[in-house]
Amino acid sequence: MTREATPTDLTITPRDRRFGRGLAANRWWVANDPVATAFYNALSATFPKGEAFFVESVRAFREGADEKLAQEIKAFTTQEVMHSREHVQFNKKAVDAGYDLAKLEKRVDERLALVRSKHPIVSLAATMALEHFTAILAHELLGTPCHLADADAEAAALWRWHAIEEIEHKGVAYDTWMHATRGMTRRKRWSIKAKVMLLVTRNFLVDRSAGVLELLRQDGITGAKAWRKMIWFAFVRPGMMRKIMGAWVSFFLPRFHPWNHDDRPLIAKAEASLGGESKPAFV
Ligand SMILES: [Fe+2]
Ligand SMILES: [Fe+2]
Repeated sequence: MTREATPTDLTITPRDRRFGRGLAANRWWVANDPVATAFYNALSATFPKGEAFFVESVRAFREGADEKLAQEIKAFTTQEVMHSREHVQFNKKAVDAGYDLAKLEKRVDERLALVRSKHPIVSLAATMALEHFTAILAHELLGTPCHLADADAEAAALWRWHAIEEIEHKGVAYDTWMHATRGMTRRKRWSIKAKVMLLVTRNFLVDRSAGVLELLRQDGITGAKAWRKMIWFAFVRPGMMRKIMGAWVSFFLPRFHPWNHDDRPLIAKAEASLGGESKPAFV
C-alpha cells in the first residue's frame, strides 16, 4: 500500500536498555569471525558521533512542526541518545579487545565537519538519507535470523534493540525533511534527495570499506585477501548489502515514504525474542 505518511497509530517508545556492562570483551564477538566482527565494529565506530549529528540536524528544523511530529522528534532524540550511549560502551569493549578505532573515528569527524560547513538543510537531507539506509539495514538484520545467529548474546541483543528502534523512528527525519522543504516543488525536493542519497551511499561504501579493511589489517588480514573477504561478506554471504538493494532503490520512487513498507510486525517479533526488562524512558 502506498500511504506516503507515517502511520497515525505509530508510537515511538524509547527503551532504556543497557548491554554487556561488566562483561569481558571478546575480540571476535561474531561467530569467532574477524570479518563479520569488522563489519559490525566499523559501523559501530560511526554511531556515537553520527547519531548525535542526526539529532542536531533534525532538531534544527523542528520549528513549526505539528504536535505529532514534534512528539516524534522528541522520542527519536531520546532513542538516538541512548543508542550513542550504548555504542560508546560497545566501542570501548572493541578497544579493550585490542582494536584501535582512532582512524575510523577521525574519518567520521572529517565527513561531519564538511557537512556541517554547508547549509543546515544539507545536514537534514543527509540525515534523512542515512536514516533510510539505517532502517533498511535494521530490517534486514531483524528479518533474516542468520545475522548475528552465532554472536555473543549481549552484543547481539544490543544490535537487535538498536534495529528495533531504527525501524520505529524511520519516518522522523523524512517527515522533518518534508516539513522543512514544504515550500519547494515536488521536482526540486526529489532532485535534492536523489543527489544526496547517491552521495551519501558513495561515502558510506567508501568509508565503511576503509574501516573494515583497517580493522582486518589489525587482525593481520591485508591486501587482496582482505578485499575478497570483505566483498564476499557484504555482497554474497550473508550478503547484507546485496539484500538491501531493492529497498535502497525504492527511495528514488516518486511516491516514496519510509512507511510505505509497514514492518512493525518485525519489531513485535524481535522485541518478544529480545526479552529482558525494558524500562520505557522518559520522553
Ligand atoms: Fe540509532
Ligand atoms: Fe536512527
